[in-house]
Amino acid sequence: MDKLVIQGPTKLKGEVVISGAKNAAVAILPATLLINGVCRIENLPNISDVRTYCKILETLGAKIKWFSDNEIEIDTRDIGCTQAPLDMTSKFRASYYILGSLLGRCGAAEVGIPGGCNLGARPIDQHIKAFEALGAKVDVSQGKISAKVKKLLGNSIYMDVVSVGATINAILASVLAEGTTTIDNAAKEPHIVDVANFLNTMGADIRGAGTDLIKINGVKELRGNCTYSVVPDQIEAGTFMLAAIASRGDILIKNCIPEHLDCITAKILEIGGNVEDYGDSIRVTMNKRPNKATVKTLPYPGYPTDLQPQIGVVFSIADGTSIINESIWESRFQYTAELNKMGAKITPQGKTAIFEGVKELTGAPVYATDLRAGAALIIAGIIADGETQLYNLEHIDRGYENIEEKFRNLGAKIQRVSEN
Ligand code: UD1
Repeated sequence: MDKLVIQGPTKLKGEVVISGAKNAAVAILPATLLINGVCRIENLPNISDVRTYCKILETLGAKIKWFSDNEIEIDTRDIGCTQAPLDMTSKFRASYYILGSLLGRCGAAEVGIPGGCNLGARPIDQHIKAFEALGAKVDVSQGKISAKVKKLLGNSIYMDVVSVGATINAILASVLAEGTTTIDNAAKEPHIVDVANFLNTMGADIRGAGTDLIKINGVKELRGNCTYSVVPDQIEAGTFMLAAIASRGDILIKNCIPEHLDCITAKILEIGGNVEDYGDSIRVTMNKRPNKATVKTLPYPGYPTDLQPQIGVVFSIADGTSIINESIWESRFQYTAELNKMGAKITPQGKTAIFEGVKELTGAPVYATDLRAGAALIIAGIIADGETQLYNLEHIDRGYENIEEKFRNLGAKIQRVSEN
């Protein structure tokens, strides 16, 4: 079992280069199943979710060549199997994108009921609604989800909730459907636009991604033979922005898209930090204790749930009492118990948590309760006085590339240690 040992406090200073977006990568990889050809993907993040996804695609008949840790070529001409291995797919959430892709390509698909971060109930009714609207029959039983269709026919789909996963799955299933599909009340996250851009580069006809009305004109085939570069990770960039604020540091964040970070920038200005926009990089500086504030997590362009624990660390040492309202995932406050072990004063009450700011955190042994909680606890360890030992690193490795090296380059005293 590995752990991170962090000595604090440190003011983070220097430059960091942001990797490709995890949430885009884990949707673009299954989207390759729709291509009757070869495609090259660049700027893939080197994370365990990507490696697991590549293994799943290989079991379905894809041939993958690695050119570097971040660049692959996928040949999906010989996709024959429609049953993805249950043990592998039930391990992480994004495996449900195989359903939309295989339905589109082969008219049938089966995956294990997806797992992933333990953030509370994660319903898939809107995914099923979208597949059924296109003509598929869906069955959820014995730990599996299976879907079947003779021919997918375009239709109008109205999403009852704004769902990233269901919007992407509806796009995947309708790209090769006959006729036109519209998705109303669609999610607008940057990675939805990235998946649509990828598919359009490969020959699809998707319009309106990034708005709440997406229109897909079905095409006969996606031929591929193109190269695509994954969008920079909005959440990783936001994590380093908030690390700069929490540590009262000065970080130049390179390879990011500042517009994707507007809601985080606005919050940082509110709590007394500075953000300079250089087009494809931003510099975040902070030279005092952060002001208190309130945050409500919302679908994009609102404040992202995936940056909630990281701003929770900032609020834990802010001047005054801050409030976070979590509107996406009910179990996303598990990290607050870990932060309280480090001296924070946080009271979670259902969907809300009250952060009574303390002057400083102190190092302690803590456990990553999910992916983003893990990133937040690294930041907490960096700003805390003394030694923090952080366990359950498998959560963090799922979604952040070389995270301790990136923090080390900013001056953090952080080591990965094997504990047998
Ligand atoms: C969500 C986040 C995404 C984040 C990810 C991991 C939003 C809109 N989505 O994406 O930013 O990266 O978690 O933290 O912020 N829902 C249903 N029925 C469905 C699907 C979803 O009721 O069929 C509900 C969920 O319970 C949740 C909300 O819709 O409350 C958003 O879920 P969804 O966007 O699908 O989740 P992810 O795609 O995992």
